[in-house]
Amino acid sequence: MSYICSEETEELIQAVREFCDNEVREQSKEYDRTGEWPKEIYDKAMEMQLHMMEIPEEYGGLGLDKVSVAVILEEMAKADAGFALTFSVSSIGLKSVLMAGTEAQKKKYCDTIISGQFSAFALTEPQAGSDAAAVKTTARKEGDTYVLNGRKTFITNGGVAGIYVIMAMTDKTKGLKGMSAFIVEAGTPGLSTGKHEDKMGIRGSNTCDVVFDDCRIPAENLLGKEGDGFKIAMQTLDISRTFIGGMAVGIAQRAMEEAIAYAKGRVQFGEPIIKNPVIGFKLADMEIQIETARQMVAHACTRMDLGLPYGKESAIAKCCGGDAAMKVTSEAIQIFGGYGYSREYPVEKLMRDAKIYQIFEGTNEIQRVVIANHLIKEY
Ligand code: CAA
Repeated sequence: MSYICSEETEELIQAVREFCDNEVREQSKEYDRTGEWPKEIYDKAMEMQLHMMEIPEEYGGLGLDKVSVAVILEEMAKADAGFALTFSVSSIGLKSVLMAGTEAQKKKYCDTIISGQFSAFALTEPQAGSDAAAVKTTARKEGDTYVLNGRKTFITNGGVAGIYVIMAMTDKTKGLKGMSAFIVEAGTPGLSTGKHEDKMGIRGSNTCDVVFDDCRIPAENLLGKEGDGFKIAMQTLDISRTFIGGMAVGIAQRAMEEAIAYAKGRVQFGEPIIKNPVIGFKLADMEIQIETARQMVAHACTRMDLGLPYGKESAIAKCCGGDAAMKVTSEAIQIFGGYGYSREYPVEKLMRDAKIYQIFEGTNEIQRVVIANHLIKEY
């Protein structure tokens, strides 16, 4: 691991590592098998304040810098990527509030998360995936309320959140300038969860549809102004994609460590296979990909911490991380040979967990669109 952190952060990382080793790593295998949401693990993690990492100190959180958050998420993802994702995505909804909310909204919803609730960020719809502007969910103003109708899909924490940040059209005639962002509290009549996804990986995280059926919310739950929704969504994703890259690095790092341990113990042709240069080269390539991705994550985080633009760097970090995770986990399975393909060994889970990191929060193809758009403006 080669992030450069303060002594205080190192201590926190060590505590998180111990927690993950004792409470997550082994336990997550069963949740991977059943697809059950491991509430007891999340409850214990909250005792360690892992849900408060990104909440500024002025609102009662830990107020960690972005580099520290990335290191801790990497550590969490090494134990279980679904576990890390649950907390990371919970911060996404809150990021929109912290970015565009009023003082009252920031205070209220930071308190909600600190009290032990999760948040969900709901942009995606059945027909609005990569084309985020194609959102069909509507928000109709009626007096001092908005009435929401529509369906969001693939929503992380969708079935377990205490608050939802949702994007809906307040004026369809204006295209993406008619999209607005709202906060919806769990338990609001007309809000329900739909289909739960039976996923290939990250099975310890909750993913489901969120349905709005004449769901009436106070007008004060609008984030920013009417029409700000698309920008709020894009700016939120600009931040969160970096951390997706960081978690993907965690998956890749774990896969490499598992492969090294296996290659040291596996004897073929009279000696441990790690002595075979073919294996050494594979491991070296893994390390190159992991370290490159990690440094891109750190670079994007440092830019955020310094208040510099980071949209392009965040997209690069997400691409590098997701691609590294997929390549490294695949090569780890190759080193394990037939055993790698068996559920008895950890690496097949890592590959299943890794795949989504090339897909969600904007596919790696969309990240390239984002990067290209930045290049066009830069040069
Ligand atoms: N920051 C601020 N403004 C931005 C922006 C950004 N990062 N990106 C775009 N904008 C602005 C543009 O400046 C432009 O504004 P003007 O018209 O005033 O110039 C406006 O938004 C439109 O921009 P584009 O023309 O680039 O928009 P587009 O329709 O071509 O879409 C896209 C661009 C990058 C492809 C975008 O649609 C996108 O990111 N798609 C992927 C969506 C995604 O990541 N979805 C996953 C969500 S995660 C989820 O919902 C589930 C979960 O569990 C978390």
